[in-house]
Amino acid sequence: MQLQWTTITKQTFIQDYWQKQPVVLKQALPGFVDPIEAEELAGLAMEEFVDSRIVTNHAGNWQLQQGPFEDFGQFGETNWSLLVQGVDNYYESVQALLKTVNFIPKWRIDDVMVSFSTPGGGVGAHLDQYDVFIIQGQGKRRWQAGNVDTQLQQSETCANLLQLDGFAPILDELLEPGDILYVPPFSPHCGETIESSLSYSIGFRAPNGQELLSAFADHAIDHDLGQTRYQDDANELGAERFSPSQNEINKLKQQVIDLIKTPGLFERFLNQKLTIATRELDLVAPICHATTDNLPDLLQEFGEVKKVLGLKSTIITIEQETYFMCAGEEFILKQDQLEFVELLNSQSTVTKINVNSSLNDLENRQLLATLINQGYWYFDE
Ligand code: SIN
Ligand code: CO
Repeated sequence: MQLQWTTITKQTFIQDYWQKQPVVLKQALPGFVDPIEAEELAGLAMEEFVDSRIVTNHAGNWQLQQGPFEDFGQFGETNWSLLVQGVDNYYESVQALLKTVNFIPKWRIDDVMVSFSTPGGGVGAHLDQYDVFIIQGQGKRRWQAGNVDTQLQQSETCANLLQLDGFAPILDELLEPGDILYVPPFSPHCGETIESSLSYSIGFRAPNGQELLSAFADHAIDHDLGQTRYQDDANELGAERFSPSQNEINKLKQQVIDLIKTPGLFERFLNQKLTIATRELDLVAPICHATTDNLPDLLQEFGEVKKVLGLKSTIITIEQETYFMCAGEEFILKQDQLEFVELLNSQSTVTKINVNSSLNDLENRQLLATLINQGYWYFDE
């Protein structure tokens, strides 16, 4: 599915709107067909492991309920929305929507949230910290959005629902199937459903310094790094004091900077971290424990092995070492494994014909067996 650029070209969008201004891309996906049905979405929202919520709005009385849900009859015909996160990890057809934003690096993507909304439904005026593309599927919704304003303050209208008192819209449009609304971080926005609707929010992520530092500290601990201790300069000693001198502070700061600047370390940490799933993966328990011995037979029997939906992976060379990073795990590769791992990395399914000769290599069999035993790749029964 390709996004159809019109008067707003890809270049104009990137230059003038991305992270700057909300905009409606009218009929960017002409003839759009919903990749999921409302009933299927409701089915997902009944599952314990899926993050879902229902927001109701009756005469200004907002309520938010967290899933899982048992029945939806109580909510009636109007004034509520069901929002389900990470639907791309469960429906290949929903994951395929991500192709529409392939002009933004994949690591920036968080998930596809799908909302089913009845007339009068919505989540009220609010802002998000992340970019979002809202693809309108069936039905119609009126969207208003305002200029980016990092000073706007939200308040908790009811438990777990942050809203804005109001905002000055610079955009007020009726979205129909195939239209896309883009909303940058801190742009206030509000959707109101006119006709029962399905919409698809492609959300992005942007780590802040706090999250990076905390994850980097975990990485350093896990890999037993940064053990070098502070040492005094003799000429700083002699007088009574508690506080560190500026020179001592600089040395301590440098200790942290030096660790982060260790050649290849941050690159390795970051690439590994970015393959960690942001939403729960639908891992598949292996049909039996895969080993380097039984793997060729299993492949012969099933014909192909599939990658779990939503699994993130990358191949990266850092300081002469090549790594396969997958779901936050790191595998060091030998040069002759590259062809096989590139196949695993780029394809959702690999067939026995694709991989047969690669499996003569013990390391390749070891890697694939591990990936199967972890539930990342599976034989479809
Ligand atoms: C919705 O679909 O109602 C909420 C999407 C959003 O505002 O980000
Ligand atoms: Co929003």
